[in-house]
Amino acid sequence: MSLLLNINVWPEKPWLARFRALLPDMEVVSAHAAFDRPSITYAAVWKPAHGSLVGLPNLKAILNLGAGVDHLLLDKTLPPVTLCRTVDQSLTSRMTEWIVMQCLMKLRRVQELQAAQARRAWAKELNSPDAHTVRIGVMGMGVLGADAATKLKMMGFDVAGWSNSGRTTADVPMFAGKAGLDPFLGRTDILVVLLPHTPETDDILNRALFQKLARDGRLGGPVLINAGRGGLQNEADILACLDDGTLHSAVLDVFRTEPLPDASPFWNHPKVTITPHNSADSDPEAVARYIARQIRLHQAGQPMESEVNVERGY
Ligand SMILES: NC(=O)c1ccc[n+]([C@@H]2O[C@H](COP(=O)([O-])OP(=O)(O)OC[C@H]3O[C@@H](n4cnc5c(N)ncnc54)[C@H](OP(=O)(O)O)[C@@H]3O)[C@@H](O)[C@H]2O)c1
Repeated sequence: MSLLLNINVWPEKPWLARFRALLPDMEVVSAHAAFDRPSITYAAVWKPAHGSLVGLPNLKAILNLGAGVDHLLLDKTLPPVTLCRTVDQSLTSRMTEWIVMQCLMKLRRVQELQAAQARRAWAKELNSPDAHTVRIGVMGMGVLGADAATKLKMMGFDVAGWSNSGRTTADVPMFAGKAGLDPFLGRTDILVVLLPHTPETDDILNRALFQKLARDGRLGGPVLINAGRGGLQNEADILACLDDGTLHSAVLDVFRTEPLPDASPFWNHPKVTITPHNSADSDPEAVARYIARQIRLHQAGQPMESEVNVERGY
């Protein structure tokens, strides 16, 4: 009974140490060294090479060390075992901090004030509307969207949400599915995107959608804030819509190609704020504890806390 650690991008050594400490009765082995394939019962992974999880005859579950499973589900050879993702309160709180901060910066016109300061201008005219007059629409009302929506509402914003089912734990008005999308967009001044990247959501942030956002808001035009995944966004459309005024501004934490290429026009676009996919870094210790707990639950014959619906893609 062994745990296979299959991690790319991140240094592996600290993760081996964490899991060995948390699961002392299990052998924890690296996918990047020789290991006994039939002994593997669980695999804890982050961006494993596609094809690298085949040939594990006793594998019972794959545990993703992050919230998004989009990279994993692109692997057409993924074994048909239970798949669990990470839901981590520290990640959720960090994401909400980032979303609330970006919305408040737009409300309080921070970029314009900074530009005025650089000109030594006493820009008293850069005042802000009341938060309750600014309509925020959160696309994706799962773990992250619900927490962000709840706290944006606490700040006084007029918040609504959109999701597939219309279900959420947040106490805000909800719009559901394709039928709910246009009315949702039509009452949105700041569009906050916390959707997973799936075949249904690929490229969803495009010109046709931006044109349906409210144009009678208090911020001078619709604002896009995307912390979901780069694959949700049509980047040529975002740039064109910023340039022709369909969008007022954009705040992007995620991109189609990461790191953002040096030649990208986003870098120095005056209406774009960029963060390097760090809106919500996970606390590795908390993630390891969460994943170890899921393995214990599975060993006890109980469902894990955040199993992924592979058909749906999230
Ligand atoms: N930037 C970062 O650092 C960072 C960090 C963590 C996560 N993320 C991203 O954030 C995403 C969301 O995370 P989460 O934990 O909140 O996920 P989650 O709990 O699975 O929630 C997903 C939400 O999206 C909705 N949804 C999915 N597909 C949809 C569609 N086609 N149409 C309408 N609604 C749809 C779901 O609706 P239903 O529930 O009604 O089906 C649900 O409300 C992750 O998948 C990941 O890509 C980014």
